[in-house]
Amino acid sequence: APFETLIVETRGGVGLITLNRPKALNALNATMIRELGEALAAFEANEAVGAVVITGSDKAFAAGADIREMADKSFSDVYLADLGGGWRRVVECRKPRIAAVSGYALGGGAELAQMCDIVFASETAKFGQPEITLGIIPGFGGTQRLTRAVGKAKAMDLVLTGRMMDAQEAEKSGLVSRIVPAEKLLDEALEAAAKIASFSRAAVLAAKEAVDVAAEVGLSEGARFERRAFQALFATEDQTEGMAAFVEKRKPEFRNR
Ligand code: HXC
Repeated sequence: APFETLIVETRGGVGLITLNRPKALNALNATMIRELGEALAAFEANEAVGAVVITGSDKAFAAGADIREMADKSFSDVYLADLGGGWRRVVECRKPRIAAVSGYALGGGAELAQMCDIVFASETAKFGQPEITLGIIPGFGGTQRLTRAVGKAKAMDLVLTGRMMDAQEAEKSGLVSRIVPAEKLLDEALEAAAKIASFSRAAVLAAKEAVDVAAEVGLSEGARFERRAFQALFATEDQTEGMAAFVEKRKPEFRNR
């Protein structure tokens, strides 16, 4: 199905979503949020896809939720429409997501990046939660995911002042895993995603699930979850293949079995 606000394609084993409302700096309107959910659900269902890259333009990953669309809404409007709730469909996708961020990632745009498993930033990236300047607060998980990513001190600084942080600060504080020159950003994200997609699918999903559990539970419970998931992977043919290939000094051929 064609999308109005996204360009959705596959590159080998990688699903690529490009946010595409250039005139509004990729402001996330209701259509885009719905379409993101649909595109990710389609990648989730597509056996050929092992990882997803989400990117924007050079100037903006996404400059936030669409302020024009929200400006006249009442409490009843946003409550009954569950504004902010549409994002559940983004995090429900079990396949790893890499955000490739260039330019502005503000408000809901920053939160979309935070919902990804890995964030690569170009040197031009700027992250911020400017909601406070609009008389609101982050509503797509920013107060929670940003705090888990960068800690309370910096999260409070960003959420309460609305200031932006550059790529260096975002990397130093733990939101961003790699800073990449702008012209190489998408290629490097696609390459990392292709690498992830080349591994045993079960191992990849289990690894992501286990790391995600760390944000939810205490250490001993998390370690127990990890141990069970680790042990369960010995039921896969891919584990047998991966270890046999190492012993036989050849490349493994994972078959997702
Ligand atoms: C709607 C937006 C927009 C947004 C930019 N535009 N951001 N439209 N919603 N979030 C539009 C502008 O209105 C303008 O349209 C066009 O994109 C270009 O933007 P400019 O402002 O002219 O560009 P520039 O001067 O380069 O400034 C870039 C900017 C600024 C610093 C990123 O656009 C900005 O501050 N945007 C708002 C950022 C923000 O507050 N985001 C948080 C939103 S709240 P026209 O038609 O005039 O050319 C949020 C809440 C999430 O995300 C939780 C909800 C549940």
